[in-house]
Amino acid sequence: MHDGDVERLADKLDAVQQVRLLTGADTWRTRPEPDVGLREIVFSDGPAGVRGPGWDERFTSALLPSPTALGALWDEERVRRLGELLGDEARRKGVHVLLAPTLNLHRSPLAGRHFECFAEDPLLAGRTGAALIRGVQSRGVAATAKHYVANDSETGRLTLDVRLDERVLRELYLAPFEAAVQAGVWLVMSAYNKVNGTTMSESSLLADPLEGEWGFDGVVVSDWGGVRSTVASAVAAQDLAMPGPGGPWGEALLEALRAGRVPAEALERKVRRLLRLAGRVGALGDLSAAYGLPEPAEPAESVRSAEPAEPAKATAPALAGIRIRQELRAAAAASFVLLENRGVLPLDPEALHSVAVIGMHADEPRVQGGGSSEVFPQRVVSPLDGLREALPPRVRVVYEPGPAPEGGGGSAPLGARYGRDPESGEPGVRLRVLDAAGAVLCSAHQPSGRVLEPALPPGAHTVELAAVLHPDATGPWTLGLGGFGALRLTVEGTTLLAGEFPPGTDDPAVIHVRPPQATVRVPLTAGRPVHVVARRELAPGTGRATVLTAAPPVPDPAGARAAAVAAARLADAVVVVVGTTEGGESEGFDRESLRLPATQDELVVEIARANPRTVVVVNSGGPVELPWREAAGAVLLTWFPGQEGGHAVADVLLGRVEPGGRLPTTWPAALAEAPVRTTQPIDGQLPYEEGLHIGHRGWLRAGAQPAYWFGHGLGYTTWEFERIGAPEPLPGGGFEVPVTLRNTGTRGGRQVVQLHLSRPDSAVERPVRWLAGWAAVEAESGERVTAYVRIPVRALQYWSPRSGGWVTEPGRFDVLAGRSAGDLPLRAGLDV
Ligand code: BGC
Repeated sequence: MHDGDVERLADKLDAVQQVRLLTGADTWRTRPEPDVGLREIVFSDGPAGVRGPGWDERFTSALLPSPTALGALWDEERVRRLGELLGDEARRKGVHVLLAPTLNLHRSPLAGRHFECFAEDPLLAGRTGAALIRGVQSRGVAATAKHYVANDSETGRLTLDVRLDERVLRELYLAPFEAAVQAGVWLVMSAYNKVNGTTMSESSLLADPLEGEWGFDGVVVSDWGGVRSTVASAVAAQDLAMPGPGGPWGEALLEALRAGRVPAEALERKVRRLLRLAGRVGALGDLSAAYGLPEPAEPAESVRSAEPAEPAKATAPALAGIRIRQELRAAAAASFVLLENRGVLPLDPEALHSVAVIGMHADEPRVQGGGSSEVFPQRVVSPLDGLREALPPRVRVVYEPGPAPEGGGGSAPLGARYGRDPESGEPGVRLRVLDAAGAVLCSAHQPSGRVLEPALPPGAHTVELAAVLHPDATGPWTLGLGGFGALRLTVEGTTLLAGEFPPGTDDPAVIHVRPPQATVRVPLTAGRPVHVVARRELAPGTGRATVLTAAPPVPDPAGARAAAVAAARLADAVVVVVGTTEGGESEGFDRESLRLPATQDELVVEIARANPRTVVVVNSGGPVELPWREAAGAVLLTWFPGQEGGHAVADVLLGRVEPGGRLPTTWPAALAEAPVRTTQPIDGQLPYEEGLHIGHRGWLRAGAQPAYWFGHGLGYTTWEFERIGAPEPLPGGGFEVPVTLRNTGTRGGRQVVQLHLSRPDSAVERPVRWLAGWAAVEAESGERVTAYVRIPVRALQYWSPRSGGWVTEPGRFDVLAGRSAGDLPLRAGLDV
């Protein structure tokens, strides 16, 4: 589409029409404008998958590994393919705009959305994000670079004022967004927080560098509810206020326009950008067709269509479904990071007679982090499922859950496992919406008791979730009811829980997605079903979510541990799966500790003592402390691996595939040792006091030793870094450095070669060293290969606030090559 066409269309709209377009029609859609052939534009959250417009468990999605896992790939080609997969999913669901990728940095390991960001390093985060964006947008679906900028932790995120200097902003936190703009991203989301005193939806950083210097020509969408003023945000380069239909623009903006407080050009500019976006995603009627633009995405109703599945006959959607599963399985395995291996991995299935699989995460893994990125996966393959399927039938697999990692009273929604719909008998629950007199306005089956966005007909007064709970164990069950407002929970007609629960926060991730739960213990008997009814009265400000949970009695921890240890002792090999739980690693709050919940550490210590052939599989989206890491036979980090994670675990443990991941972030041995950790604002401000020195740069400056450096990861072969050649200037600027290495192990493999720069005699402050580029190579056993690693000009530069530009300091840089920020054996000089 030509800019002239956009102008022509924009000119047809009067002020009332313009203003109408600039606030969402509802939570996930913009308004259509038939006068110019503009249809609604449909948004969906990412980046773990494409949930679609809404929160409805009946509409499932392909679930990818967490973004931390994507950062661990160091493989732009694979990330681009995953982006294409997301783009295809978006089209299948009638979605035009995907709210991903998240380009904030791993500044503190405690950050609640750490799992949702790629890396601690701006170059790795930027290149990974750019690859994802290219993949998504190749399908005619818009990607959104979020959250612009410095939204690197969650505590007080709606009001937090991040304080940092211009150089730090440019070299670290803005850098991945600059890469996104260079990749041609179509939207940028302004963050909730403030930077240096100004909230991001009103910030001058939207005009410059984003639109001015970088030339971003897409739409700046607010984070949900992030536009909080009429004039200040409208005169800023904030284009679209989501969600709608209310909000501070609308009528108030029209009045401000008429009173001359907002110039007409400001609105015209925003409308032009919105129309340009519509043209790009195929939401602009005839023009899209006339210019050979993508066919419009299917209407949003198509989310109800059948999912790709595996029926007996291979239909096109079935084949697509199989291809998606293979891609997700391979991506997960390629992201797994082998942290330790004392000759235990890979396991040889031929030599095994029995395997003990231990830990509740083996059976019920965490496949994604919490918050707006959540999707309802098509299926989940657990490590236990994966191993059972992959091992030959003669190998005995013994499963022992061990003590509960939640410390009792889990928060899993009542679903297919224990719940039956009282009306239809199907696995799940019955949702009914009642009016004030108790009459039923609508009734529907739900796969689980987590109902986040029910359809509410006029007159809706109460949301009711009912189920017949089938206990499979005798003892105290924990029932929970999550949501805000007046709540009531009855079992067999007796009220066990009732009260008023006002929301103590404005955060949409808490109110609408993960409301806290009130819980109650109730003694139940195995095989004796009970009728459970949860009710929540609707009132303004209490959000949309109602969640009914049920957890079986917690097994006696000592007995469960003894059974696990006994199983470990008898087995040829042991796989213990540990991880974080529902209460941690989620949007809306930060973590307080990096310890594995409950007694998981003690469990691992005892198991490893009982059997030296113990593999610990770590199931977390971000760093956790692993105090037993030197006592375990092997430690494999699997992140939140997405729906096919269990197959990938089996592929890697049995050596069918190499664990390909390399850490995108430095992992501390203990939280207290991490140079940058606090996410706690003081008087609303969070000063980024460490300046340029986050991640490995911080560890290097402190002269401290982490548990695992940025880039660490073992794979199944070994490598000798042999030689670094002289940096060769490239025609368009920058340098290329040849690094030769040899596969010294017994099998083929892939290795990531990192290049870092250092500038000991610099006239300006510099990190001790910093990542300047990387390349991956593959080689067979014994083979020698050369990686040609590119160093972009920018890697040699620093931002000078005085001159307002990038400066290349002439002189000599040291170039260091190796496998991680802590292991760089080769050195060359580079003269500028
Ligand atoms: C999150 C965004 C998300 C939006 C819509 C916000 O609370 O910060 O990342 O895209 O909600 O769900």
